[in-house]
Amino acid sequence: MVRRYVFVLALAAVLLLGIATVSRSKGLRGKKPPGASRIPSLFGEEERVAMKEALKGAIKIPTVSFSEEESDTAALAEFGEYIHKVFPTMFNTSFIQHEVVGEYSHLFTVQGSDPTLQPYMLMAHFDVVPAPAEGWEVPPFSGLERDGFIHGRGTLDNKNSVMAILQALKLLLVRNYIPQRSFFIVLGHDEEVSGKKGAQKISALLQARGVQLAFIVDEGSFILDGFIPNLKKPFAQIAVSEKGALNLMLEVNMTPGHSSAPPKETSIGILAAAVSRLEQTPMPNMFGEGPLKMALEQLANECPFPINIVLRNLWLFQPLVSRLMEKNCITSALVRTTTALTMFNAGVKVNVIPSKAQATINFRIHPAQTVQEVLELVKNIVADDRVQYHVLNAFDPLPVSSSDNQAFGYQLLSQTIRSVFPEINIVVPGTCIGNTDSRHFTNLSTGIYRFNPLYLQPQGFSSIHGINEKISVQAYETQVKFIFEFIQNADTFQLQVPHWHEL
Ligand SMILES: *[C@@H]1O[C@H](CO)[C@@H](O)[C@H](O)[C@H]1NC(C)=O
Ligand SMILES: *[C@@H]1O[C@H](CO)[C@@H](O)[C@H](O)[C@H]1NC(C)=O
Repeated sequence: MVRRYVFVLALAAVLLLGIATVSRSKGLRGKKPPGASRIPSLFGEEERVAMKEALKGAIKIPTVSFSEEESDTAALAEFGEYIHKVFPTMFNTSFIQHEVVGEYSHLFTVQGSDPTLQPYMLMAHFDVVPAPAEGWEVPPFSGLERDGFIHGRGTLDNKNSVMAILQALKLLLVRNYIPQRSFFIVLGHDEEVSGKKGAQKISALLQARGVQLAFIVDEGSFILDGFIPNLKKPFAQIAVSEKGALNLMLEVNMTPGHSSAPPKETSIGILAAAVSRLEQTPMPNMFGEGPLKMALEQLANECPFPINIVLRNLWLFQPLVSRLMEKNCITSALVRTTTALTMFNAGVKVNVIPSKAQATINFRIHPAQTVQEVLELVKNIVADDRVQYHVLNAFDPLPVSSSDNQAFGYQLLSQTIRSVFPEINIVVPGTCIGNTDSRHFTNLSTGIYRFNPLYLQPQGFSSIHGINEKISVQAYETQVKFIFEFIQNADTFQLQVPHWHEL
């Protein structure tokens, strides 16, 4: 039993953010760039101070998104002025065009010197979720530095990326860097509440201009550290898909009546039975669909006995593993579409049987299913014609971007991870269980990758949208360094053609 327990824990952790396949990209190396043109990512003391001060200033601007309708527009505007002030070179360089889209979002077009290279895109967002001050060690919009950490809402999600992208490019520009490959920088202002006013408009604009991208990099995954009790080594996970979502309202209408002579069935009773059936009948377990299985087999090499044996032999243990994953709500969320009953409304008066009862259910859709399939399953489970269905909003899971050894964006990221974090030797693709602005860009690229070049521990994971969000000064510097290297790698990296003996 103990072993079994450890195993469940390990799986829960491995799968916390979802994992698809493991790629060790054997035989793939970046082409060595000519030494002379390579700018080393070495920053002076003054630059390093300016770097962290710039992030602190960004944290102090309370760019809160409360809902799709309500955000702190004064703060959003102030943020625009702030980046002008901190990164003037971004606005007066001849080969960089800046546009404000949807009033507050920013689009930079960086024109590369080689028009034959297909452009790419770096994305981030500067709106944040609300942060009531209760429970925080330091006020969430103070940007205070303490014990080597910069504290505040947005330090991980996602002003760190906004500032690091601009910072890295600025540092390259002042070293007279001229990119060969064009790229776009998209900084969204309403990601936390759908991205419809910012990222979606930028996507429409670029589609109208006929832009096609080699790949896109957005937030959405990390170097996972300490999520697996038995796996000491951290590993990098690049999310190649996102779960979809469906908010579905169920409604029952019956003739109203007096409570003194109630009918056999009421709207409340019928609806309660329907949602109870949905809760009791989880959506099917999709374990084994997609590359998740292969990922586990690869990660097995890093796990101790006996987990390694089980994971390496899924042909035998799949039914066991699949069942074990259902037992824990986190792993369960990774193998199936989740069903969460979130709202239930009926009745206005103690002695009146209401005509109408309504319940809302939030489904998060597994990448191997569609909104339509989930709707069909729901109707079959409820199996009651008196229940009506209203789709409040829905979107399918995001297409799974390629992570094979010919996937340029994935391999470029992977190579940069290995060079900036030499201690990391596992890079796995996975599924993002949240959603990002990049979902609006599926028409522009088939290679959408979500990765924040930071170590994330379980504690940090709960601080995102929680309390005490913070980033170490050193981790932020490394993020700047990562992007500084990444932009240069994008100019020089080439996929190696596989040799016969590797096929
Ligand atoms: C661009 O901005 C920098 C920093 O403020 C300034 O030093 C430089 O003169 C400006 N260049 C142009 C062409 O305006
Ligand atoms: C993608 O393109 C199709 C066809 O032009 C269009 O109908 C759809 O709205 C676009 N999707 C997005 C997310 O921009």
